[in-house]
Amino acid sequence: MEGQYSEKVMEHFRDPHNVGEIPDASGIGNVGNPVCGDIMRLYIKVDDKEVITDAKFKTFGCGAAIATSSMVTDLVKGRTIDEALRISNMAVAEALGGLPKIKMHCSVLAEEALRSAINDYMDKKKKKSAG
Ligand code: FES
Repeated sequence: MEGQYSEKVMEHFRDPHNVGEIPDASGIGNVGNPVCGDIMRLYIKVDDKEVITDAKFKTFGCGAAIATSSMVTDLVKGRTIDEALRISNMAVAEALGGLPKIKMHCSVLAEEALRSAINDYMDKKKKKSAG
């Protein structure tokens, strides 16, 4: 089974980066895959220049979901919101050295979690500026 996965995927699965929560997060994304039942929660901290200064996650899911959560949180740190919105699940999978075809949907979960956290951040910002 392990042979299907790249060394990088195994590395991030065994020792995931950025696991945890951000108590005063600027945005939180919650997503789930109804088919496999895996869930992911992703936290981002954004500064006033719209740069993501920190990202953390909690994932209850398969190895590929954990590895892609770990990679996506690594990838967004230091990026602006605009740049982060352009990170696709393909980019995450590529950064991990590829994923088996039947595991690509796990990287989609990571992309959706990121989008959902960014949407939450934008909603909160809108509400703030509305008074
Ligand atoms: Fe559910 Fe991987 S099998 S996200």
